[in-house]
Amino acid sequence: MKIAIIGAGAIGSAIARKLARNGIQAVIANSRGPQSLKALTDELGPSIKAVTVKEAAQADVVFVAVIWDRLPSALKDLGSWNGRILVDANNAVEVPSFQAVDLGGRASSEVVAEWAPGARVVKAFNHLEARVLDEDPQVESGRRVLFLAGEDVDAKNTVSDLIARMGFAPVDLGGLNESRLMQFPGGPLAILNLVKFD
Ligand SMILES: NC(=O)c1ccc[n+]([C@@H]2O[C@H](COP(=O)([O-])OP(=O)(O)OC[C@H]3O[C@@H](n4cnc5c(N)ncnc54)[C@H](OP(=O)(O)O)[C@@H]3O)[C@@H](O)[C@H]2O)c1
Repeated sequence: MKIAIIGAGAIGSAIARKLARNGIQAVIANSRGPQSLKALTDELGPSIKAVTVKEAAQADVVFVAVIWDRLPSALKDLGSWNGRILVDANNAVEVPSFQAVDLGGRASSEVVAEWAPGARVVKAFNHLEARVLDEDPQVESGRRVLFLAGEDVDAKNTVSDLIARMGFAPVDLGGLNESRLMQFPGGPLAILNLVKFD
């Protein structure tokens, strides 16, 4: 299974670090091209390679972590996703004001799904601050909780397995409608930093 990350900022690099630390190979892309990611890939070692956005989008599982107003342009020339999995780590906020974007009552992942035709969208990795996501997911004898939500059960199983391999405790909230629970701002589970003791 090929894994990619589009967006190499606070969230994208935190995801890349967790993959690298757990020996999971992935590629990563930003808007400025692979050469601009040399410092990050040097830090992370051989399991994470820098590529273009178009190359990254061909992976079986693609984490997307781009600020909201840049998302349409990041996704626009990628064609049909043909069932590949898009992990939506984004929140519909203006930067730097952190004002909520008006989505006309839709869940933000429903909007992302419209921008990525054919993608099986799973919302995950959006509800914690990047600095918390970057911390060790092992807390005492428990694991930090990462929520996920999406319509496709197989896609959620794949993402759930990845979340567990990265050291977190996956908690499935339901479909994209339920992803509102973890949306920032407004979702009651957003920013909540929980630890699951098995
Ligand atoms: N920061 C947090 O604590 C946090 C927490 C939860 C969720 N989120 C969400 O995660 C998403 C990313 O936030 P962030 O804080 O990681 O943002 P960030 O640090 O500003 O990083 C954004 C990344 O997106 C890339 N990018 C921008 N336009 C692109 C394009 N057209 N094609 C490909 N890549 C593009 C940027 O690459 P270049 O630098 O090359 O332009 C950069 O690597 C946002 O939706 C945010 O709401 C953030």
